[in-house]
Amino acid sequence: MKGLKGRTVLVTGAASGIGLECARAFAKRGANLVISDVNSAALEIARAGIAASGVSCFARTCDVSREESVNEFAAAVHQAVGAVDVLVNNAGVAFLGGFEETPLTEWRRILDINVLGIVHCLRAFLPAMREAGGKRKIVNVASLAGFAPAPNMSAYAASKHAVVGLSEVLAMELHDTGISVLVVCPGIINTAIVHVSPTASGMSAAQIEKLQKYYADEGCHPSVVAGDVVRSVESDDGYLFTGPAARLGFHAMRVSRKLARRLTIAAARKSGYLAE
Ligand SMILES: NC(=O)c1ccc[n+]([C@@H]2O[C@H](COP(=O)([O-])OP(=O)(O)OC[C@H]3O[C@@H](n4cnc5c(N)ncnc54)[C@H](O)[C@@H]3O)[C@@H](O)[C@H]2O)c1
Repeated sequence: MKGLKGRTVLVTGAASGIGLECARAFAKRGANLVISDVNSAALEIARAGIAASGVSCFARTCDVSREESVNEFAAAVHQAVGAVDVLVNNAGVAFLGGFEETPLTEWRRILDINVLGIVHCLRAFLPAMREAGGKRKIVNVASLAGFAPAPNMSAYAASKHAVVGLSEVLAMELHDTGISVLVVCPGIINTAIVHVSPTASGMSAAQIEKLQKYYADEGCHPSVVAGDVVRSVESDDGYLFTGPAARLGFHAMRVSRKLARRLTIAAARKSGYLAE
C-alpha cells in the first residue's frame, strides 16, 4: 500500500499506548483517522490532538468485546467516511497471574476483548473493505506472547496465539484480493497494559511493581512500534516483530523450544513475571 495521504485509517483502543501512537503516526503521514476506545474521556483528548494536526479525525466510543457496540460504530463510520483503507485491530488487555490463580471471569474478559474484539471488527468492517476494492490493509496487533510467551500470562498468551492463527487464515483467504494482513508482535513496550491492580491479578503487589518498573526502564516508547507499523503498512504484509525482546524471542523459539523456555524463564525472573 503506497502512500497514506488522504487514506482512511481506523484504530481501535486508540486512547492510550500503542493505539494512540499509531493514530498519531498515521496522522503525521496525512491519513484521515477513525479512532475508538472504551475510555471516552481519554478518546476525546486523543481526537482533539489528532484533529489539531490538520487531518480529519472521527472518534466514537466503542467496546470491541460487544458485538452491538462494534456494529453501531461501523454503521456510523460507514455513513461518515465509507469503507476504511486500513483497519488496525489494536485494543487489548492483559491479566497477570498463574494459571491456577486465573479466574474464569478473567479468561472470558481477555478472550472477549483480545480475540472476539477482533472478530467483531472484522465482521463489521471487512465486507465494506472488500466491496470498495483496491489495496487495503488489516493490521492485527498480536504480541511476542503469540509465539514465545512468559509465565503468568496463560489467558493473555492463549488470546494472542488465537490472534496469530486467525490472522494467518485470513491472510490466505484474502490472498487473491487487494486486502493484505499484517500481524504486529510487539515485545516489551512501556504502556499502561501492565498497570493492573494487584487485587485484580494473581500476582503479589511487589511482583507487579517490579514488572512495572522493568517495563518503564527496559521497554521502548510505543511511538517506536507506531513508526514500524506505519512503515510496514506501506511496504509489507506478514509479521512485524517490534520493540525489545521481540525478534530474539521469536528466533529463539524457532531454533529450539527448550532453549526459548530456558531463556524466557531467566528473563522472567529478572523482569518480574516470575518471583525470584
Ligand atoms: N505494551 C506491551 O508491551 C505490548 C506487547 C505486546 C502486545 N501489546 C498489545 O498492544 C495492544 C495495545 O496495548 P497497549 O500496550 O498500548 O496498552 P494500553 O493499555 O496502553 O492501551 C490499550 C487501549 O485499549 C483500550 N481498551 C481496553 N479494552 C477495550 C475494549 N473492550 N474496547 C475498546 N478499547 C479497549 C484501553 O482503554 C486502552 O486505551 C494490545 O492488543 C496489547 O495486547 C502490548
